[in-house]
Amino acid sequence: MARIYNFSAGPSMLPEAVLRQAQQEMLDWQGSSMSVMEMSHRGKEFMAIAETMKNDLVELMAIPDNYKVLFLQGGATAQFAMIPQNILNGKSKACYVNTGAWSTSAIKEAGKYCEVGIAASSEDSKFTTIPDFASWSIDPDAAYLHYTSNETIHGVEFNEIPDAKGLPLVCDMSSNILSRPVDVSRYGIIYAGTQKNMGPSGVTVVIVREDLVGLAPKTVPSVFNYEQQAKSDSMLNTPATYNWYLLGLVLQWLKAEGGVAAIEQRNLQKADKLYRAIDASSLYSNPVAKACRSRMNVPFVLADESLDKEFLALAEKNGLGSLKGHRSVGGMRASIYNAMPETGVDALIEFMAEFERTH
Ligand SMILES: Cc1ncc(COP(=O)(O)O)c(C=O)c1O
Repeated sequence: MARIYNFSAGPSMLPEAVLRQAQQEMLDWQGSSMSVMEMSHRGKEFMAIAETMKNDLVELMAIPDNYKVLFLQGGATAQFAMIPQNILNGKSKACYVNTGAWSTSAIKEAGKYCEVGIAASSEDSKFTTIPDFASWSIDPDAAYLHYTSNETIHGVEFNEIPDAKGLPLVCDMSSNILSRPVDVSRYGIIYAGTQKNMGPSGVTVVIVREDLVGLAPKTVPSVFNYEQQAKSDSMLNTPATYNWYLLGLVLQWLKAEGGVAAIEQRNLQKADKLYRAIDASSLYSNPVAKACRSRMNVPFVLADESLDKEFLALAEKNGLGSLKGHRSVGGMRASIYNAMPETGVDALIEFMAEFERTH
C-alpha cells in the first residue's frame, strides 16, 4: 500500500515507524495481553506508559522543575478559556498580540472573562508580518501577555521570544512545539494541541509555571482548574489513554531522531528549499515577510487562481495530499511538520515545477 505525503495542517502526518509500532502492539501491549485502549488508566501498565511519556517530554523540551506538565482535553481552544479562568488572579485585564486567525480566536474567547488589551496587531498587513517588538504596548497592570508562536493558517512564525516586560508570557505553541528548541523558563504557560507535531488529536499539552497554579477562583470547574489537574496527574477525569500512548511513541521517535535540535535542522532545510522554489517561480508566491515565514506551514497562491482546482487534483494524483489552503485565505498550504520527510518536500517541489512548466 502506497502512503501519500500528507500536507494537512492537523491532524497531520505521523511518523510511519510510530504507526507501525502501534499496529504491532495493538492487540497485545508488551506481553500484557491487552490493547492499550483496554487498560485501566490506574493500572500499572498504563501508569508506566504515562510516566515515560511525561518524562520524555520533559527531557526533549528541557522543562525546568518548577513547571507542571498537564495533558488535558478540549484542544487549544479550551485553553483559550482556561487561561483567563486560571491566571487572571483578580486582575481585570490581559494583553494579547494579534498575528493571525488563531490569535484572533484566543482574543475573542478571553474577552468573555476580562478586558483584552491588544499589545500589537498585524491585521493591517493582512497578517503577513510581526509588529516590531519595540512598538508593542504592554500594560504593566495586565495579568499576562499572550501570543501565538506559529500562525497555522497565515504561515507566520516568531523566531524570537518576545519580552513580556515582567508579565507572565503565555504562548499558543500548537503548530510549532517540538520543531525547534525553546527556553521554557521564559514562559508562564506554553500550551499546544497534539495533532500537529506530537500525535493524533485529543490531547492538549499545558506546561505551566508553578506560581500560576492555584490562582483560579473556586467557581472554575474542577476539570478546567490547573491546580486540581496537576494534583491528580491530569487524571481528574479518565484521560484519553490511547492518545497519551501515541504521544509517547512520537516522543520516543523524536528522541531516536536526535531530539529537538536535530529536527530543527531538518525543518530548516525543508522550509528553506520550499520557499526558495516558490520565490524563484513566476506562478507561485507567498505573501509573508521573509523574516517571519513559518517553517511549519507554507501558504502559497497561484498567479492564476483558476488553476487551483487542477493543481490540487493533479497533486493528489501524484501522491501529494491535503494541499488546499484554509478557506479563510484560499490558495494552497503545505504543512511540513516534524514527521514530513524531506523526500515529501522534494516531491512537492518537483511537482510544482512540472505543473508550472506545463501551465
Ligand atoms: C495555532 C493554533 N491554535 C489553536 C488551534 C485550535 O486547536 P484545537 O482544535 O486543538 O482546539 C489550532 C488548530 O489548528 C492552531 O493551529
